[in-house]
Amino acid sequence: MPILAPSILAADLSNLQQQIRLVEIAGADWIHCDIMDGHFVPNISFGPIVVKAVRKCTNLPVDVHLMIEEPDRYLENFVKAGADSLTVHQEASIHLNRTITRIKELGIKAGVAINPSTPVDSLKEILEFVDLVLIMSVNPGFGGQKFIQNSLRKVKEAVELRKKLNASFLIEMDGGIDNMTTKPALDAGCDVFVAGSSIFRADNISAAAAELKNIINRQHK
Ligand code: DX5
Ligand code: ZN
Repeated sequence: MPILAPSILAADLSNLQQQIRLVEIAGADWIHCDIMDGHFVPNISFGPIVVKAVRKCTNLPVDVHLMIEEPDRYLENFVKAGADSLTVHQEASIHLNRTITRIKELGIKAGVAINPSTPVDSLKEILEFVDLVLIMSVNPGFGGQKFIQNSLRKVKEAVELRKKLNASFLIEMDGGIDNMTTKPALDAGCDVFVAGSSIFRADNISAAAAELKNIINRQHK
């Protein structure tokens, strides 16, 4: 079943518990947390303290996307804070195999993310070791950006490689996911849909999440 993962980057953090509740009742599957360090990406968001707060607010899996340099330094902190999956950027990981192995040793799911300009092929040697492949459909750093269309081709390439390698990772799409882009992403072969602004900036947060959930579920009924 496809997975809806609302990103709290766009949420009202002064009311985290209520905001999470609103997406839970709409059928959200995971809660996505965007960690930005002001170096790997030009923006700073939040760190393990907020992930810990999210963990206290929900029983849903907490999906942590590290947009940070030297991710190895912080893996344990995020696991201790309650992350169920940790995704590092290929571009920020010099020893990617070591990093992925370490995340799995810590007992949670390991993911790798790529920026819009990074080819899927660059992941070939790591694909059999990861649980998640996150394909950025905007340049990471900010919510509310326009979906980059050729990301769909990259999803298809990842689907092909998964088949070829007989691997089992989930394909996650992140950036500009809304009621227009979700269906094409689903058709391309996406398994996990991260959505920030289209959910948390909507007038009715639950209705917006339910609408996306409906789109991704339609094909599976
Ligand atoms: C972007 C983050 C995304 C972001 C998506 O750098 O990785 O997870 O929250 O936000 P929207 O859905 O607004 O594009
Ligand atoms: Zn993200």
